[in-house]
Amino acid sequence: MNEFDGVDEAGPTGRIDLHGLDARTLVVHPGETVRVTYPPGDASGTRPPTILPPRSPHVGPARAMRDGRRSPTGAPTPRPSGPPPNIVSAPQQFNTHDLFVDMRPIVDQRLFCKVEGMNFAGSVKLKAAASMVEAAEAAGQLNPWSIIVESSSGNLGVALAMVSANRGYRFICVTDDRCNPQTRRLIETYGAEVHVISVPHPETGLLGARLEYLRGLCDRDPDTVWLNQYENPANAGAHYATTAPSIARAVPGLEVLFVGAGTCGTLMGNARWFKRHRPDVKVVAIDVEGSVSFGGPAAPRHIPGLGMGMTPPALDRSLVDDVVIVPETETLRMCQRLAMRGFLFGGSTGTVVAGATRWLARNAHPDTLAVTLAPDQGERYLDTVYTPAWREQHYGTAAHLSRPHRLPDPAADSD
Ligand SMILES: Cc1ncc(COP(=O)(O)O)c(C=O)c1O
Repeated sequence: MNEFDGVDEAGPTGRIDLHGLDARTLVVHPGETVRVTYPPGDASGTRPPTILPPRSPHVGPARAMRDGRRSPTGAPTPRPSGPPPNIVSAPQQFNTHDLFVDMRPIVDQRLFCKVEGMNFAGSVKLKAAASMVEAAEAAGQLNPWSIIVESSSGNLGVALAMVSANRGYRFICVTDDRCNPQTRRLIETYGAEVHVISVPHPETGLLGARLEYLRGLCDRDPDTVWLNQYENPANAGAHYATTAPSIARAVPGLEVLFVGAGTCGTLMGNARWFKRHRPDVKVVAIDVEGSVSFGGPAAPRHIPGLGMGMTPPALDRSLVDDVVIVPETETLRMCQRLAMRGFLFGGSTGTVVAGATRWLARNAHPDTLAVTLAPDQGERYLDTVYTPAWREQHYGTAAHLSRPHRLPDPAADSD
């Protein structure tokens, strides 16, 4: 074994002659040691030597790692660069504005899905919740004794429970029995109350019954403040201010935007922005069968998020270029298809992706560039959308989904 330590007098980059082997140029900082080890019995030899990284005689690797100058492999750690860390003091201060899933490998269309569920409330409704509370505070409607009350199918309830906990308000969420049990528990975990309505109003259904109950709460207690997501301009305003411009920025060649319709806050905020700033972009609403929002007949619906049992007060039909109505069984199939590619999304994402692919197949060229929104993630739907018994209970045989995976063949493994 032939070893030597040396530093070339040329300074930081030194050339070391390896006795006829490849001459290699190493970066050597002043005072650092280069260690070259020849394979045993090959001092003059033909096989290349091992060259260990430069080592400083003054700073050991552990110290250098602690100081951030070395990676665990000994290579110099790159200087930190890029955006500064996201540091928040309130959960509603964090959101993701630039995450899109490329749906091309899954649906074979140029469809990109903007992910809205990557925040502390887990859904698109964080934007509406934060914006409505902020607006109420700015208008002097909230004081430390205020009790925020709201009707929600679940996600707004979670977001408002989180924001209310952070801002120090009591919160009562009025929901109905379509709200997932896990979502109810989440709302309660933030210290809020959940009132579940299970008897529909004879004419206006479960939503009508929820609103009637809410009005009763407000009449009885002067400390209650109903934010009223169905009519509050801060709901759509949040999407006008953030969602739409971030889509336009990220996808400059956008041609069609598909937006699911619940209260129509997301739909109207986006539609208003695009009609004003990018009128060339078509805005297509996606609704669920059984919802009356776009004039269809009312029918039972089981997946929360999209659809309404009354005409949404916020809806301005003149801003919407087209509408696609999706049966919930199509929602289930698309949710499973996405999950089998590793994307576990909530029910309404299945609906909007199913509706968007159907519309694109009928109305667009293969290279039409489109975006839709994924309002939340799938974990809240494990006991419903992703459970065969639940699907069977609500949709019967129509909910039988084809076998998702080809499982490994045990016979093939045995030989
Ligand atoms: C999962 C999910 N998708 C879609 C929506 C619809 O959003 P918007 O009320 O803005 O129409 C909601 C609203 O609660 C939702 O929870």
